[in-house]
Amino acid sequence: MSEKFEIVAKTYQGLEEVLAGELQALGAESIKVGSRSVSFMGDKELLYKSNFRLRTALRILKPIYTFNARTVEEFYGQAKKFDWSSVMELNHKFAVDSVVDSDLFPHSRYIALKLKDAIADQFRDKFGKRPFIDPKNPQIQFFVSVTNDTCTIMLDSSGDSLHRRGYRHSPDIAPINEVLAAGLILLSGWDCKSDFIDPMCGSGTIAIEAALIAYGIPPGVFRQNFGFEYWLDFDDELLQSIYNDDSMERDFEHHIIGRDISSRAVESALLNVKNAGLLKKVDIQAASIFESPAPGAPGAVVITNPPFGERLKREQLESFYSQLGDCFKQKYTGYDVWIVGSNMEALRNIGLRPSSKLSLFNGAQESIFEHFPMFSGTAPKEMAASIDLEQAQPRLAKPKAVLKRK
Ligand SMILES: C[S@@+](CC[C@H](N)C(=O)[O-])C[C@H]1O[C@@H](n2cnc3c(N)ncnc32)[C@H](O)[C@@H]1O
Repeated sequence: MSEKFEIVAKTYQGLEEVLAGELQALGAESIKVGSRSVSFMGDKELLYKSNFRLRTALRILKPIYTFNARTVEEFYGQAKKFDWSSVMELNHKFAVDSVVDSDLFPHSRYIALKLKDAIADQFRDKFGKRPFIDPKNPQIQFFVSVTNDTCTIMLDSSGDSLHRRGYRHSPDIAPINEVLAAGLILLSGWDCKSDFIDPMCGSGTIAIEAALIAYGIPPGVFRQNFGFEYWLDFDDELLQSIYNDDSMERDFEHHIIGRDISSRAVESALLNVKNAGLLKKVDIQAASIFESPAPGAPGAVVITNPPFGERLKREQLESFYSQLGDCFKQKYTGYDVWIVGSNMEALRNIGLRPSSKLSLFNGAQESIFEHFPMFSGTAPKEMAASIDLEQAQPRLAKPKAVLKRK
């Protein structure tokens, strides 16, 4: 039996329950939902799988050392008691990130600095040399969390944030990143038994994440590496076996369509779809939502992130959103529409009453996710109270070709 330990998965505020659902489907034990995080028990295999398969996790952390300290000197002294050579080598480049929620300590950067000193000083005392600190490209990344006088040091097993799946040609420019997009789709309760549409798809993130969910493709297949690959106990064979396990893949019989009025956005979406190897699975089209009939078939789930005012002036934005409300009312009867945005004033102009409203936070940036079921004559469908991931990700009967790591 392999050793089990505590693991912490970080996410956006508002996606914790979805992440807990994903973890349950992965076989995690003792799942506890926190604020922007979910903790659970698992072994090395689950740690690797969490990085590879979770769609709504930003980072997977492994707590390695907890102690109490009430002053910076005490923090440094306690930190020096841990044997850092048990988790990294002198030639590893390392970095420290921190979050401090305590009146006892000054800002979190200072705590990070103190941990860096404790680690580097211990190596210097033992080996006569300090390891190199590289905040941009560390091989070993530590994360310190301080709550009151409780200090926990964790190893970051992900490395680069997991929202950087690796298929986007210009990462970090879309307002809705990969983790948030996947979270919205899972929150909507889409069961993959209907078409999926983003009629204002921009660079295509929501449509691409929908395709990854629909076909059961793990989000980790595009990653070049994970932080745990530098760990002293790294098991390459185990990672390869997770990488080559295609038992989650399945067929999907409906359509995934992304549309955008801008030819630049269409180009960018096509490039991302191509990078994700989804050219035959995601249909990207150039069209204005106002000047074309609804794509796909009624019953489809629509999730979209309309323009929020970067280029549109306030009055233009008001009329754009009110036109959008009319357009959904007239052309999208029978569709299950969800809109995400952070411009609350603009969203009010839609003129439709949402059947539910959810608030999500990407850092300090709040986004509202509103549900407009456009089913004529029926009561608005309630939002999926709990997400049935088995239903959202039914297991594939027919395995696909074996994935090979690049
Ligand atoms: C906020 S962006 C969407 C970003 C997208 N979620 C992503 O991942 O990149 C809004 C998009 O709506 C598009 N748009 C604006 N007016 C439109 C219209 N009338 N019909 C279709 N798309 C439109 C814009 O070109 C822009 O790409």
